[in-house]
Amino acid sequence: DKEIIILGIETSCDETSAAVLINGRDLRSHVISSQIITHQKYGGVVPEIASREHSLHFQPVVQQALDEAQMSFSDLSAIAVTYGPGLVGSLLVGVSGAKAMAYAAGIPLIGINHLEAHIYANFLEHHDLEFPLLALLVSGGHTHLILLEDHGQYKVLGLTRDDAAGEALDKVARTLGLGYPGGPQIQRIALKGDPHSFQFPRAMLEPDSLDFSFSGMKSAVLNTLNTAKMRGEELSVPDVAASFQQAVIDVLVRKALMGIRLTKVKTLLLAGGVAANALLRETLNQTLSERGIRLVYPSPIYCTDNGAMIATAGYYHYLREDYAPWTLNAVPGLSL
Ligand code: KG4
Ligand code: ZN
Repeated sequence: DKEIIILGIETSCDETSAAVLINGRDLRSHVISSQIITHQKYGGVVPEIASREHSLHFQPVVQQALDEAQMSFSDLSAIAVTYGPGLVGSLLVGVSGAKAMAYAAGIPLIGINHLEAHIYANFLEHHDLEFPLLALLVSGGHTHLILLEDHGQYKVLGLTRDDAAGEALDKVARTLGLGYPGGPQIQRIALKGDPHSFQFPRAMLEPDSLDFSFSGMKSAVLNTLNTAKMRGEELSVPDVAASFQQAVIDVLVRKALMGIRLTKVKTLLLAGGVAANALLRETLNQTLSERGIRLVYPSPIYCTDNGAMIATAGYYHYLREDYAPWTLNAVPGLSL
């Protein structure tokens, strides 16, 4: 049978990325151009700068992905691109570019939901996943528990009512003077701290709710830091980081367990940038293996934003001929 070759493109936030993927599992090339250094001096992503950076890097990144795969547009089956959620100016660069290339090449355009793609990063490396599956998606913008009944069939069981887990980690890291993005910095410095030194709250909400809330937990940390500052006390940054990281992980693990109990699924997929967190992986691994539940997560490089996950999701859309119209637009607030 003919090979299915997908070019996947991601530009929703601060990574310009492109990947060439054959038959949903053979990754021929993967290029990620990160803008982290550009945004670092502002302490977070500046939307206008992000769009302009995507404009600069879009074509070179795509060309490099094709070159490394030793392919040209005529080899491609389709082009898959993130159309939401994300920053509108960033999304528009990818959507317009992908549209132009697919139209000129005479191949289908596939619109990808960024959240779905994070989950599909798991399908790139694991080829024996059987539905139903439960996904815990933890990123900078989202915290979701999702039941996957089949390819393309999702039920959101719970989501954050305020801050995303990654967002809370980023804000606490910023206040601690650890820089952007905060998650990896918290993980690094927490290794030197005691996770039991501060008893930060764990927001669980109503007893049977699968929703999350990280804003109050974040505020508790910021209050502790402010109070200490007013009293002229020096708090240990590693201790605060370790204690907050532990609080966030406790909530994520508890909610994942509740979701598993409710849905009776046998496999949990971890996804999103925070899924790269080593302690979260380790804690979930231990908790779930004790209960006979399989835990699956992508390699760290496929947890944070990347084109390979877009190509992987695109492959499954291609199989069901789920193509986008030429009028495809950016949808900044797209949900699952
Ligand atoms: O999925 P992602 O790259 O972008 C969004 O779609 O939001 O996630 C970025 C988030 C940031 O909040 C970042 O601090 C967090 O993922 N993150 C981590 C780690 N690596 C990235 N959080 C905790 N531990 C990590 N190792
Ligand atoms: Zn993302």
